[in-house]
Order: sequence, then structure tokens, then C-alpha cells
Amino acid sequence: MFGLSSSEVGPALLEHLEGYLFKTIVPPDLVGGIIVEAVQADSGDIVPPRGFLAGVEAICRRHGIMLLLDEVKIGLGRTGKWWGFSHEDVAPDLVALGKALGGGLPLSAVVGRAEVLDAATANNMYTTAGNPVACAAALATLDVIEEEGLVARAAEIGGYLLKSLRQLQAVHPLIGDVRGLGCIVGVELVRDRTTRVPAPSETAKTVYRCYENGLLVFYSGLYSNVLEFTPPLTLSVAEVDEGVDKLDRSLADVEAGRVTDESLGKYQGW
Ligand SMILES: Cc1ncc(COP(=O)(O)O)c(C=O)c1O
Repeated sequence: MFGLSSSEVGPALLEHLEGYLFKTIVPPDLVGGIIVEAVQADSGDIVPPRGFLAGVEAICRRHGIMLLLDEVKIGLGRTGKWWGFSHEDVAPDLVALGKALGGGLPLSAVVGRAEVLDAATANNMYTTAGNPVACAAALATLDVIEEEGLVARAAEIGGYLLKSLRQLQAVHPLIGDVRGLGCIVGVELVRDRTTRVPAPSETAKTVYRCYENGLLVFYSGLYSNVLEFTPPLTLSVAEVDEGVDKLDRSLADVEAGRVTDESLGKYQGW
């Protein structure tokens, strides 16, 4: 959907789904469910235009398809609301949770209506399901998120992080876009801001120089050219300032050619 403005791309994608994919690749009556992230994380931290998720839900309802929200990465407050889908007025049929849920212990969950989850006998029986220690950790995690006001905190500190990273865009030509919602932020690196040609090797070099400077950053995106920031929701303003300063210096080194191809020799990405 290159070349479309951000207000055009949402409706165009919805039309592609209903007007093209359903008519050519897969008829809607063969589709049991559509799985979607409210912010597409690993594909490049893409925040869809407002109305997109509600549009997906409307398509699901029109065709009797279930709407499944993957909240594994962005759920539990990260986006500044408890759930990523809460930024729009949608009601998913099933929600997948993981990562932060166990507060460090391994735990994932699927939450949904009983008639969906109980549809098949013994459908949800796994050896390690319902592990009491992990479940206790999850309940404690939910308490901490609530008691420490971490959802509101994610919106606040995430907004500050986004603003600080946008300020870097003014001084670093490599930065093509900075986007995010609460505490998930992506910085897209490009070789040319007009054509938006991805800059994957520059991204790898930036990640590596950040690591040398004491800042751990991943990259994401279909073209491996998006620096991803998914910090703890307890991040302080001072930590944002320190991290952004390290990124600033790392980008300057990459732009000035001070990080060589050879220095990446042992680095295999994430
Ligand atoms: C959005 C999203 N969904 C699902 C998963 C998979 O979760 P798990 O590693 O618990 O299987 C990941 C993992 O990284 C993820 O980012």
C-alpha cells in the first residue's frame, strides 16, 4: 500500500480483504477467525490508522468470522490502555495473552467467551496448563499493574519517549519515521526519506553501537530496519533521557561511517 496517505491506507486494506482476498483467495465462509494485533509489533511496530480495527471487526461480523486479538506483546497496559484493542470500540471473541502476564514466569493464556472456549471436549488440556505458581505470579502481576498505576504510566512515559525520539528525527537523516502507542515505539531507518528505501545494515550497525554504548535495542520490521522500543512500564524520565542520548550518539557514529561492516562480523542480529 505504498504511496497511500495514512488516512487512505486503512480503508484500502479493508477493501483488499473483503473486496479482493475474500473473492479470489479464500471465501469468507471458509474463514473461522481473523487474528490481528492492535499494534503490529514484529512487522515494524506499525500503529494502524484509527478505525482500522473496528473495520476488521465489522467485516468479521458481516461474515460470521471470529475476531481474535493477539495481545501477547502489547496487552496488559503497554499501549497506555489495558488492552491494545481498547483504543477502538471493539469486542474480540478471543484474546491471547503472554509475555508480561507471568511477571517473568512462563505463562500464556487465551481468554474468551465460554461457548467458544468450551466448544470442543478437552480442547484446552495441556500438561503444564494452569500451573499454580505461574498463575499466582500472574495474579500478583495484575495487582502490581493496578496498584502502581502502570497503565497510565505507560501512556505518560511512552508519550515522552515518542516525543524525545521524534526530536532525534530532526538531526538524523537516517530516521524516516517515529511511531508508537504508549510504551511500544518504532524508529524506522531509511536510506532516503522521500523514497523510504529501508536501511537494514545501518539498523544492524545502530543496534550494535547502541549495545557498545550500553543500550539494548532490538530491531523489527519486514525489512529489519525498525528499532523497537518496548521498555518496562516503570521506565523513568531520566532513563529515557539516558537511552535517547545513547541512541543519538550511536546514530551519529553510523551516519559518519564510524561503524564498519567488519565490526558486525560476529553479530547475528536477534
Ligand atoms: C505478538 C506476539 N504474539 C505471540 C508471540 C508468541 O508468544 P510465545 O513466545 O509465548 O509463544 C509473540 C512472541 O514473541 C508475539 O510477539
